[in-house]
Amino acid sequence: MIELQDAGFGYHEGAELLSNMTLSLQKGMFHFLTGPSGAGKTTLLRLLYADLLPTSGRVIAFGQDLRGLGRDDIAGLRRRVGVVHQDTQFLDHLPVAENVALPLTVSGHAVDMTALRDLLGWVQLGPQARALPPSLSGGERQRAALARAVILSPDLVLADEPTGNLDWDMSMRLMQLLIELNKSGKTVLVATHDLNLIRAAKAQVAARVLRIANGGLQLAGADL
Ligand SMILES: Nc1ncnc2c1ncn2[C@@H]1O[C@H](COP(=O)(O)OP(=O)(O)OP(=O)(O)O)[C@@H](O)[C@H]1O
Ligand SMILES: [Mg+2]
Repeated sequence: MIELQDAGFGYHEGAELLSNMTLSLQKGMFHFLTGPSGAGKTTLLRLLYADLLPTSGRVIAFGQDLRGLGRDDIAGLRRRVGVVHQDTQFLDHLPVAENVALPLTVSGHAVDMTALRDLLGWVQLGPQARALPPSLSGGERQRAALARAVILSPDLVLADEPTGNLDWDMSMRLMQLLIELNKSGKTVLVATHDLNLIRAAKAQVAARVLRIANGGLQLAGADL
């Protein structure tokens, strides 16, 4: 569904942060992306949802080279990829339900209130539907961000450190939701530096673990 072909990226001319990356995100698979802070996990995710273009090699998304895509094609791609950002942002003056529905409303779609209620129930935010984002706990924010990321029924879900500031129990609850999404057929990629989280998840789902090391991408073995 998304492929990197010898792709590289650098924020500064002539200095690549990530080089020679070859990867194929396989449909229906659960992937982890790991590596130390500053290794380039967020950068790689941004390449996957066409927020950045590679400075070498190619990124092919749903059969199309990102480099050749126009604005409409990029918008189409973004609808197929749901993203939970590392620094989750909401419109603080709008209630949680409206924030979650935003990808629908900004693209001019009607909101199916029953589906929205079901989605909020799935992330256990029913009681917080009318709350404003600043009043949410860290775990509630992350669950709201996940609901917003899947409201357009994307094929692929990218989650960047979704358990970043959460305690272990809440981290596992969030992982459970991501595993459920995967079991319902979605391709999932979770970026995390937390190897314990990966180990715990691997007991429940067959996952491929990718690691960024020395500016390149490797497939990690079973020795996590
Ligand atoms: N917009 C930018 N301009 C210049 N350099 C950047 C930019 N964004 C990130 N970098 C640099 O690129 C490197 C990789 O950053 P990135 O955010 O991808 O790492 P990460 O693996 O996600 O780290 P963390 O685990 O802390 O989230 C860092 O050295 C960072 O300072
Ligand atoms: Mg990051």
